[in-house]
Amino acid sequence: MCGIVGYIGKPPVVQTLLDCLGRLEYRGYDSAGIAVVNGRGIQVRKRVGKIKELVASIQQHPFEGTSGIAHSRWATHGLPTEANAHPHTDCRGSLAIVHNGIIENYAALKARLQANGHRFRSKTDTEVIAHLVEDYAKRLPVAQAFRRALKELRGSYAVCLIAKQDPQRIYGARAGSPLIVGVGDGEAFLASDVPAVLAKTRRVIYLNEGEVVELSSDGARLTTLSGAVIHRKPSTVSWDIASARKEGYDHFMLKEIFEQPSAVEQTLVNRLDAARGRIAFDRRTRAFLEKLKPNEQFVLIACGTAYHAGLVGEYMLEELARVPVDVDLASEFRYRGPMLTRDTTVIAITQSGETADTLAGVRLAKEQGAKVLSICNVMGASIPRESDAVMYTHAGPEIAVASTKAYTSQLSALYLLTLYLAKARGALSAVRWRSLVRQLSHIPSLVERSLRAEPLIKEIAKSYAGARDFYYLGRRYNYPSALEGALKLKEICPSIHAEGYAAGEMKHGPISLIRRGWPVVFLATDSPVYEKVVSNIEEVRARKGDCIVIASEGDQRIRRYATHLIPVPKTEELFSPIVAAAPLQLLAYHIAKLNRCDIDQPPNLAKSVTVE
Ligand code: M6R
Repeated sequence: MCGIVGYIGKPPVVQTLLDCLGRLEYRGYDSAGIAVVNGRGIQVRKRVGKIKELVASIQQHPFEGTSGIAHSRWATHGLPTEANAHPHTDCRGSLAIVHNGIIENYAALKARLQANGHRFRSKTDTEVIAHLVEDYAKRLPVAQAFRRALKELRGSYAVCLIAKQDPQRIYGARAGSPLIVGVGDGEAFLASDVPAVLAKTRRVIYLNEGEVVELSSDGARLTTLSGAVIHRKPSTVSWDIASARKEGYDHFMLKEIFEQPSAVEQTLVNRLDAARGRIAFDRRTRAFLEKLKPNEQFVLIACGTAYHAGLVGEYMLEELARVPVDVDLASEFRYRGPMLTRDTTVIAITQSGETADTLAGVRLAKEQGAKVLSICNVMGASIPRESDAVMYTHAGPEIAVASTKAYTSQLSALYLLTLYLAKARGALSAVRWRSLVRQLSHIPSLVERSLRAEPLIKEIAKSYAGARDFYYLGRRYNYPSALEGALKLKEICPSIHAEGYAAGEMKHGPISLIRRGWPVVFLATDSPVYEKVVSNIEEVRARKGDCIVIASEGDQRIRRYATHLIPVPKTEELFSPIVAAAPLQLLAYHIAKLNRCDIDQPPNLAKSVTVE
């Protein structure tokens, strides 16, 4: 959702900005723009559509600068037009701004600025920042004017500024939206996310809420909004540029699906010692877990795919660790007036660590005295930083909008947590516990095995590429799998309507739509509810629907019910969602590919939803 880049350093500045912006394409956007400072002042170029349109325009009419900012915009206030695209300038074109987030008090600020003679050219909330800084810069140096303007903003922002009178600096600040500083050799970067700068540097400073940064080619100077200097050294990112490239795959989504065995392994390694029967966490997380009360109440909050991981977590935590669990969509949690106490642990699950609703849920939980543990993939993101403890999933950068490896690594983190709590609470016998720990250690290779179904899934996809409606059905642990399978398909193939249901709900409504050839994907792996799922399959067959059945390897009986059968490794029921994930993702991927969909960047979707 909106990508920001800033650069100061070596020529060619424009090319560096475009390269970095291109690495944020995955975030989703509908227009792009760039502004640089050069001997002629500030030069701006914007285009509606893809970054390649902007690149083509610059190739036709090139310009260069000593420093600059660039932006990919996902429209919130105002249509995706050139006028509304960023960067935005002040009245005289003496400074330029790019912004991610929403300025909630923009209407009041705009009215005041207009009354003072400022002329606005766009419908965006962002433009007020440019005019506000312009106002203060009449009597203050740029750095101070920037900070004064920021103090007036309500809402969320990551913002970068260049100014004609200060060409050797770029400025950045954040509140509620992510912004990182990349520190290179004689060059420095600002970006909304690490992959933007990975090809240039792995030394990164994560800005905290309310921090302002002043970049020169010598490095970064951090201050508070009041101007107090902050000292923070860069940390080194463990990801490398290869992890942010497609590496021969047609799409990032496919690459990330196939990375799941190693992503899951990364979540488990150093935490799971199956040989000695031990689960260990870092000191902070261990201390956090050790302090939990016997009557601790758990609330899992998340959005989208992460919410589906949370739903699987509810089953396993209640069944195996015997702890009471609620799961909430973060966007509902924050508005339902939850009753939290000091004995509540809120577990925030998030790939990006920046999802606005989940972050708001975390803040609400803390206000009410609850504790927060987050499960997150992105190091240094806002949610882990505001949590009392964090389990990083270490899945590596997930670039495709559709979440795949983040999901299975979130499940892996939840398995670890469940088994840890089950042991701490004596909820399982020692024999059963050790057996589950041993099985968990085999999960990466089982996920690998489930990927071998790809050629079969590719064939099945051919039969359904033309279908326009799909159901996904499962029970218990695989009810969330059904939701996730349907989400994957509708997300990356917008011409298809796909719904996931608890299979038991079929008779309460959805079955009325089934007709000849209607594809229904069933999760029918080995479980105590297997027979019930088979009955649901029969019901669909009786209405001449097609049944694409994901079942445990070796299940001969299911063959006679399935129009198409996708075998996955046989596991304990609790591990079945993780082995079923890849076939569901691959089915969505191949159907979308046959429909020529924009798989990595589906229309209207953003990778990280940083606005409400
Ligand atoms: O970064 P998060 O895990 O907090 O993101 C939550 C959802 O926005 C995300 O899972 C979304 O639903 C995915 N695009 C699904 O594939």
